[in-house]
Amino acid sequence: MIAVQCSTALPADWQLGTEAAAVFTIELDPDAASSPSERDLLDAGERARAARFRFPLLQRRYIAAHAALRRVLARALALAPERVPLGVRADGKPTLAGELARALWFNLSHSAGVAVVALSAIGELGVDVEEIRRLPDADEVARRVFTAAERAAIERASPTRRDRAFFAAWTRKEAYIKATGEGLRASLLDLEIDPESSSAERAVLHGRGASTSEVGWRILDLELAPGFAAALAAPRGTAVVECYPYAAADLRSRADAGAWCSR
Ligand SMILES: CC(C)(COP(=O)(O)OP(=O)(O)OC[C@H]1O[C@@H](n2cnc3c(N)ncnc32)[C@H](O)[C@@H]1OP(=O)(O)O)[C@@H](O)C(=O)NCCC(=O)NCCS
Repeated sequence: MIAVQCSTALPADWQLGTEAAAVFTIELDPDAASSPSERDLLDAGERARAARFRFPLLQRRYIAAHAALRRVLARALALAPERVPLGVRADGKPTLAGELARALWFNLSHSAGVAVVALSAIGELGVDVEEIRRLPDADEVARRVFTAAERAAIERASPTRRDRAFFAAWTRKEAYIKATGEGLRASLLDLEIDPESSSAERAVLHGRGASTSEVGWRILDLELAPGFAAALAAPRGTAVVECYPYAAADLRSRADAGAWCSR
């Protein structure tokens, strides 16, 4: 059973434990504009991507999410944020580059004004956050992405909880396909995350790398922000998931303290 521990602030001496995953929740809209210092943290590829957003709000959120991602990774790696070497796997999953790709794993998700960064020193992981909202075509979407058992579990939720149940199921599947790196290439109807579990931790019943195989993930529902559903696909061996609110100042204060995750 994976323990979930949520704290209101990052301890000054925080290090990523060898059996832990850490999840940072980032508020993306605290200011009217992203500061030049945030943009300066991004690499050329990230800046080029930021420049392609047509809507200033989306551009600001992208810059804020990537600056936060870099600060979190920098803290775990004891590097300056702008020096964190980001790469991308052949399947499109972002990763650390070079040797670091086998020492620390991360995943990023954003929805509306919230982003989430998840880290593990054990192995690949996936995270997803979604604003809970009413989809006009929810039934049709459900038929495309959920198995019959997953749909039945959503329909059993009371009407006031149904949108939440829909996005809880959605984020579980999305976290999983982000852990494997398959993304939209995954066949969502062949993937089933245990819809009947009464605990926040669920097994992957069907799907590549399901919990019964050697490489396995457990899926955890996380309550990170009001009005948002979130899930983490944590690698086998994870004993605890630590959740923290992201604050740039907490990370900056130790950015060059020389500590790397305690592996
Ligand atoms: C990238 C993908 C895996 C997730 O997209 P999303 O939910 O729209 O967006 P999220 O905010 O959760 O994740 C985006 C981040 O995932 C990361 N990412 C990109 N490709 C990835 C991959 N193959 N595997 C894991 N993570 C990936 C990136 O960091 C990206 O952020 P960035 O663009 O700022 O760099 C996308 O391929 C996908 O599956 N979209 C979902 C559509 C859908 O119908 N889902 C049904 C759910 S049941």
